[in-house]
Amino acid sequence: MSERVLSPINKSLTGELYVPGDKSISHRAIIFGSLANGETTVTHFLDGEDCMRTIDAFRLMGVEIEKNDNTVKIVGKGISGLSEPLEPINLGNSGTTARLLLGVLAGLPFHFTLFGDSSLTKRPMDRVAIPLRVMGATIDGRENGKFLPLSVRGGELTSITFETPVKSAQVKSGVLLAGLLANGVTSVSEKTTTRDHTENMLQAFGGNVSREAGTIRIEGKQRLSGTTIQVPGDISSAAFFMVAAAIVPRSNVTIKDVGLNPTRTGIIDVMKQMGVSIEVTVERTVGGEPIGSIFIEHSPINGTVIGGDIIPRIIDEIPIIALLATQANGKTIIRDAEELKYKETDRIASVVTTLQALGATIEATEDGMIIEGNGTILGGFADSHGDHRIGMMIAIASLIAKDTVTLKNEESIAISYPNFFVDLEKLISKSS
Ligand code: S3P
Repeated sequence: MSERVLSPINKSLTGELYVPGDKSISHRAIIFGSLANGETTVTHFLDGEDCMRTIDAFRLMGVEIEKNDNTVKIVGKGISGLSEPLEPINLGNSGTTARLLLGVLAGLPFHFTLFGDSSLTKRPMDRVAIPLRVMGATIDGRENGKFLPLSVRGGELTSITFETPVKSAQVKSGVLLAGLLANGVTSVSEKTTTRDHTENMLQAFGGNVSREAGTIRIEGKQRLSGTTIQVPGDISSAAFFMVAAAIVPRSNVTIKDVGLNPTRTGIIDVMKQMGVSIEVTVERTVGGEPIGSIFIEHSPINGTVIGGDIIPRIIDEIPIIALLATQANGKTIIRDAEELKYKETDRIASVVTTLQALGATIEATEDGMIIEGNGTILGGFADSHGDHRIGMMIAIASLIAKDTVTLKNEESIAISYPNFFVDLEKLISKSS
C-alpha cells in the first residue's frame, strides 16, 4: 500500500492533453477480437490493470494476444477456436471483465471458475447470471451465484427477450454477447439508454444489430471478422482534468482525441449546466465512436440538481462532479444514483466520507448526495480504498487544498490511468 503526499500547486493548469484509451472500448476490442475470425489490431489500447484482466482471460482460453505498449494484436480463430481454461480466471478488480465475460462463457461448451479481488467479490453478479441461466447456462457461487467466486458451465443457449431491471451497460452487454452465441434472436430492452459501445463495436466487426426505441436485437451465431480498432481517449479519465481546469484559477486545458459518444458525454452537459466555460468539437467518427476535443477554462461555478436519465451518462464521473460541486455557488443535489453503491466501492459512502475528511460539507442520501458549495478543501489524510476514481478525485482536490493531502492507496489509480500523475505534471509544468 503506497502513499503519496500531494501539495497544493498555487499554479494554473494549461496546455493540451491526450488521455489514455477508453476502458469500456478497450475491453470490448479484446472480447470481439477474440471471438472474430482473422487478425485484429487495437491501437491506443488502455494499458491498465482492468483491461489486462480481459486479455489474460482470453489467453487462458487459447487466444494468441500480443501487446506492445498500447497496441494489441489478436489472432482470432472464431468462437470455435476457444478452448477450456485449465486454471481459474482472475478478474481482479474489473466489473466490466466479469459481467461481459460471463455472457461469452455462458455460450461455450466448457467449465469455468472465476474469482476477483476483495472489492469485486462484494459486487453483484446475479444481475447478469439470472438472464444467462434463463438462456441455458449453469452458474453457481456464493448466495446462489450472486457473488464471486463463480462456477460457470456453458453450452448451447436459447435466445431471450430481456428487459434490464438495472440501468447497466454491463448487464445489457453480457446478455447481448450471450445472444451472439445463442440460437435465434435475442432482444434486450432498457428504459434508460446506457453506453452503446458493444453495439457499435459489433457492427465494426461486421456483425448485425438493430436498435430501435430502447430495444436492441441481435441474431445468434453471426460470424465476425477481425478488424482495426482505434480506441478514443477515455472521457471518464479526461473528466478529472476537465474539473481540475474548471476549479484551479487561471487554467485552460484542451483534451484531444477524446471519445464523445453521446451515451458518455453527460459530464459536458453537467459542467455547462453549472456554468463552466467549455467548448466541444467533434472531429471524426471511427468505428461508430465520435472523437474530438474539449476545451475547458477556469470559471465561476453554480450549484445544480442532477438526476433522472442523465445518471447512466455520468455514472463514473459522479465522484469528480461532487468535488466540482464543493467549489460552486450554492447547493448541488445528486439523485437517482443508487447504482453508485455497486461500484468499486460504495461510491455514495466513499465520496461523501472522503470529501468530508478533506473539509467539504457534503451529506449522503439514499440515492445520491447533497453538496454545499463555496467549500474550502483543507487537506489531511484521504484513502482511495482501492477505488481508482476516488484516488483521482483526491488528487484533484489536493490541487486546491489549503494544506498537503496524503493520498493512501494511490496504486489503485493504475486500474484506469497508469500515467495520471505524469499527465498532471505536464499540465502544471507548462504553466507560469
Ligand atoms: C461499463 C459500464 C458501467 C460503468 C463501468 C463500465 C461498461 O457499469 O460504471 O465503469 O464498460 O459497460 P454498469 O453497467 O454497472 O453501470
